[in-house]
Amino acid sequence: MDKTLLRSASVLDSAVLAVLHQAIFTAPWDQAWDSASFARILAMPGALGWILERETAPIGFVLARFTLDEGEILLTGVLPPERGKGHGATLLHGAIAAARQAGVARLFLEYAEPNAGAAALYRSLGFVETGRRRGYYGDAAGRRYDALACTLELTAPNSIDPPGKPPGTMIER
Ligand SMILES: CC(C)(COP(=O)(O)OP(=O)(O)OC[C@H]1O[C@@H](n2cnc3c(N)ncnc32)[C@H](O)[C@@H]1OP(=O)(O)O)[C@@H](O)C(=O)NCCC(=O)NCCS
Repeated sequence: MDKTLLRSASVLDSAVLAVLHQAIFTAPWDQAWDSASFARILAMPGALGWILERETAPIGFVLARFTLDEGEILLTGVLPPERGKGHGATLLHGAIAAARQAGVARLFLEYAEPNAGAAALYRSLGFVETGRRRGYYGDAAGRRYDALACTLELTAPNSIDPPGKPPGTMIER
C-alpha cells in the first residue's frame, strides 16, 4: 500500500519546493524557479501550496492562487520516477477541493501545447481548453511553443466533482 500525505506548504517550504521544481520541470520550455521565487509567490495574497509526501519525503507539489471567486493553478509537478501513479491527480483533487471550500467558481491554468502529461491530467479532471497564446513559451534554442489556457467551472450544473480529499488527509493507493 502506497501511503501519501498532502500537506499545506508555507514560505518555510520554499527551499524544498525549489529542489522539487529543479527535478520536475526539465522540459525545454520550463523556466527556472529558485527558493526566492517560491517565497515571493507564497507571500502573495491568496497564494497557496501543497506538498505530496510519502513517509515525509516530498514527491510532488501544487501551487495555486485564489482571488475572490476565481482561482489559478500556477504549477503542478510530480518527480519523474513517481509519475503515472495518480499523484498528479491527487495533487489537483486537493487543490480543487480547497478551491471549492474557498468559494472559487472557476479555476484557470495554462500549459505548453507539447506537454502531453499536463494535457492528459487536466483533461481527465474536466478542464476545458478556452484559449491559446501563440508562442508564449520559448526555449534556449529560440523555439516558441503555444500556451493552451484551460478552465474548470466548479459551479456549473454538469461540473465534475472529483473525489477530492481535503489537504491533510492520508491517501492510500
Ligand atoms: C503532468 C504531471 C504532473 C502528471 O502527473 P502524474 O502523477 O504522472 O499524473 P497521474 O498519474 O495522476 O495521471 C493523471 C491522468 O493523466 C494521464 N497521464 C499522465 N501523464 C501522461 C502522459 N505523459 N501521457 C499520457 N497520459 C498521461 C494518466 O494516464 C491519467 O489519466 P486517467 O485519469 O485517464 O487514468 C507530471 O507528468 C509532471 O510532473 N510533469 C512535469 C511538470 C509539468 O509539466 N507540470 C504541468 C504543467 S505546470
